[in-house]
Amino acid sequence: MLYNFELNFDNFVDILREICENSANENFGVWFLKQVLVLHGPNLNLLGIRETNLYGTVTLDALNDTLATLAMNHHIKLECRQTNAEHVLIDFIHDAKARRIDFVIINAAAFTHTSIALRDAMLAAKLPFIEVHISNLYGREEYRRHSYLADIASGII
Ligand code: DQA
Repeated sequence: MLYNFELNFDNFVDILREICENSANENFGVWFLKQVLVLHGPNLNLLGIRETNLYGTVTLDALNDTLATLAMNHHIKLECRQTNAEHVLIDFIHDAKARRIDFVIINAAAFTHTSIALRDAMLAAKLPFIEVHISNLYGREEYRRHSYLADIASGII
């Protein structure tokens, strides 16, 4: 494929990305690794200790290590962050937008069911994301069945 772009500093990264995406089947090699951000919400720092009947015995560090290995094997640049604070989670999302993260995987934990601010952050960032939960929300309390993220997510696990 031939490219005829007017190259300047402002569009340099966009152009490289476009070439990279179009050239996936042209043996160009990988110019940009896809960047995925995994966000863990409140109380998930206690994985492995907290309600192990629901969330299992794997710690957050062990889970992140497994994800890091998977990402490396698939040539993905992965970053995992956890916070117990709603505003910090929102700042992570704003920051992800600014850093042109390609995809977000988020277990917003209890904020899933409560946070319009988190939904607004996702809508503002316009980053594709998947909502993840460890437990079966539909086998638990009624209030866990509602998610402020589900209808704007690319998928739910
Ligand atoms: C959770 C489910 C939420 O309802 C709960 O508040 C959590 C964890 C899950 O992974 O199953 O903290 O998101």
